[in-house]
Amino acid sequence: MEYNIALVKGDGIGPEVVDGAVAVLEEVGEKYGHTFRFKSYLAGGCAIDATGVPLPPETVEGCLASDSVLLGAVGGPKWDTLSGDVRPERALLGLRSKLGLYTNLRPAKLYPALAGKCPLRAETVADGFDLLMVRELTGGIYFGDRGRRDGKYGPEAYDTEAYSVMEIERIAHVAFAAAQKRRGKVISVDKANVLETSRLWRETVHRVAEQYPDVTVRDMLVDNAAMQLVRWPGQFDVIVTTNMFGDILSDEASQITGSIGLLPSASLGDGTRGLYEPIHGSAPDIAGTGRADPIATILSGAMMLRYSFGLGTEADCVEKAVDKALNDGCRTADIAGPGDEALSCGQMVRAILDRI
Ligand code: IPM
Ligand code: MG
Repeated sequence: MEYNIALVKGDGIGPEVVDGAVAVLEEVGEKYGHTFRFKSYLAGGCAIDATGVPLPPETVEGCLASDSVLLGAVGGPKWDTLSGDVRPERALLGLRSKLGLYTNLRPAKLYPALAGKCPLRAETVADGFDLLMVRELTGGIYFGDRGRRDGKYGPEAYDTEAYSVMEIERIAHVAFAAAQKRRGKVISVDKANVLETSRLWRETVHRVAEQYPDVTVRDMLVDNAAMQLVRWPGQFDVIVTTNMFGDILSDEASQITGSIGLLPSASLGDGTRGLYEPIHGSAPDIAGTGRADPIATILSGAMMLRYSFGLGTEADCVEKAVDKALNDGCRTADIAGPGDEALSCGQMVRAILDRI
């Protein structure tokens, strides 16, 4: 089969890690007889520099015409002083929303080989952890009404959180269906003791739950969830939550795996086209130094194979190659222990290619 993949490499370490993932996809394609055709598009800071806007229309059109999108990262200090609607991050939010990608899957697990990099005490993660964050991605406070106005104390700014029953229902279905294929446990995270959107969230999630009698559902307040993630991450299977809470909790979850450089993500809608990206940012401080970890983007490529193309065996092959490289002691700087020789981004890609 042939697949057209739009590449949005972005800024900072984005190009390095995407190039790594492309090399891995090409290797897998060769092994299993698939052709991946890649076409690059600008988004983020590099698009602002080249065209004046963070998300040029050609990029949206190119992504819409593709079978799937692989993205690196956007943003950097150079563009930090721009106002909200022209910042590089707008490109990401615009793409998510224009492609209708309301589901964000962020798996986080403890690799036995990296247990020593987990900042939690050994007994806290004695039973390991393997969780899937299901984050709502095109609603909530990220997309609500916002602005500046004169308030009670003078000038003020506001952002609003709104969720419709439809938006909650569709993400709840994704979470329950995912749990059915995993360990059958959903924890829905909200702030229902304070927020009205959370009360609607809770009611709706429970109504959807009735259609999944084989899955257990439990509510957890977001502050407690933040605590439970570092108290006993092994208790989580699927977490379903809002755009903002999912953003925050997924960074927390990434840290307990040992490095944010390991976590992939898939953003999905109703069709098969998805947008796949590492959960980390553009890391401008290490861009071009070879210190980036390509694993999160390579694993995002694996998620693309599985979720957009239905190529489960091929995805397994990539994930196993990453496991093998880690088990064999291959380490980029972010996961190197004292005395480990750190591989460059390119050397880690090579190590994974050799194990495909
Ligand atoms: C993420 C990022 C983005 C988000 C930013 C860059 C807009 O933090 O994908 O988690 O908040 O969604
Ligand atoms: Mg984030």
